[in-house]
Amino acid sequence: MRKLVVTVLVVLLFSVGAFAANELEIFSWWTGGGEEEGLLALIDEFNEQYPDIEVINATVAGGAGSNAKAVLKTRMLGGNPPDSFQVHAGQELIATYVVTGKMEPLTDLLKKWGYMDKFPKDIMNICSYEGEVYSIPVNVHRGNVVFYNKKIAEEIGMETEPSTWEEFFHYLDKAQDAGYTALSMGDKNKWTAAHLFEDVMLSQYGAYKYNKLWNGEQSFNSPQLTWALETFDKLIDYFNKDHSSLTWQDASRLVFDDKAFCNVMGDWAEGYFKTMGWTPGEDFGWFAVPETGNSFMIVSDTFGLPKGAPNPENAKKWLKFLGTRKAQDIFNPIKGSIPARVDADKSLYDPYLTWAMNDFSNLALSPSIAHGSAAPGSFSGALNDTINSFVSNRNIEDARQSILWSAEDIGLDVE
Ligand code: GAL
Repeated sequence: MRKLVVTVLVVLLFSVGAFAANELEIFSWWTGGGEEEGLLALIDEFNEQYPDIEVINATVAGGAGSNAKAVLKTRMLGGNPPDSFQVHAGQELIATYVVTGKMEPLTDLLKKWGYMDKFPKDIMNICSYEGEVYSIPVNVHRGNVVFYNKKIAEEIGMETEPSTWEEFFHYLDKAQDAGYTALSMGDKNKWTAAHLFEDVMLSQYGAYKYNKLWNGEQSFNSPQLTWALETFDKLIDYFNKDHSSLTWQDASRLVFDDKAFCNVMGDWAEGYFKTMGWTPGEDFGWFAVPETGNSFMIVSDTFGLPKGAPNPENAKKWLKFLGTRKAQDIFNPIKGSIPARVDADKSLYDPYLTWAMNDFSNLALSPSIAHGSAAPGSFSGALNDTINSFVSNRNIEDARQSILWSAEDIGLDVE
């Protein structure tokens, strides 16, 4: 009898979760090369504050989520969501997971935590759908940046940072003539070439028109698209020959190793340079991608709460933690991003990040295609493929046509 009572008790306790592990599974693609360091610093601080919660750091390697996004989708569709996951603000969150009913709204929690006025409106808007907020931004990255090797810049006589394509090509020629890779590229994962292309697009359309591409007020079928492909085509001549076997970190590394003059990348590359030991402003410099100096290409990493998360209460603790000033000020100086919170401690940020913060407050903001904000995944995936083919066949008319088809497929203006 006693045995039976004990057994029943144990079964009961199990069913109310008393013996269940106190876990929190967070999912991202931050596995190395500068990204991991920021994430681990966040997890360390979370562990300090919640020592009883065991954090399961579930990662799938591959820059910009090139592999992680597919794994996440399978898990979400299969009813096996993590407790919280990294997702870009904008269409990657909204079109993929919110419209399909896979996410919990967070508005009431944000209100309860006093977070509603702590984040920029533009970022909150792209984390929202039909009046509800669905994720908490942990950072803002800038996508339209050229990072360059200062030693090489000096050697080739670059005294002023170029702001036009003409000036930029002048220095690319000089770097190439001096025997360097002028513009490093690592498009083993296709998104990096698309990343460069969207920056070139921004330079041709300007933020005002580029932003209108996404609500149908500006047609894709315009000379700017051809100009963007023409400019991009010229840039290909300056890539390293082995670009298709390198990752974004490898391409940044060519700059770090004094083999390449510069690289166009989001400022997670800044985090990477720092973790390799470079000092911003001393070893490397930066400027906006030519003719995009008035715009800030936004890439914002956010975390949300999927429906059916196994440990929703722990996920809420994680989300609340991510929104604190402390967490944002721990993560971002390492990650190479600026805090999404408006009241962060600016003194903690290096000269590059201070430049980015100032520009974020003063410039026109534009959503990135390659990093999920501007358009649904089907469009960014198609653009990745188109630009990837273009890098080898360099057929402007084909690329233009295929971009127009992709835009038409998602209902954008191509008239
Ligand atoms: C972006 C992401 C960044 C960084 C980068 C390279 O999409 O927003 O945080 O991780 O990919 O992996």
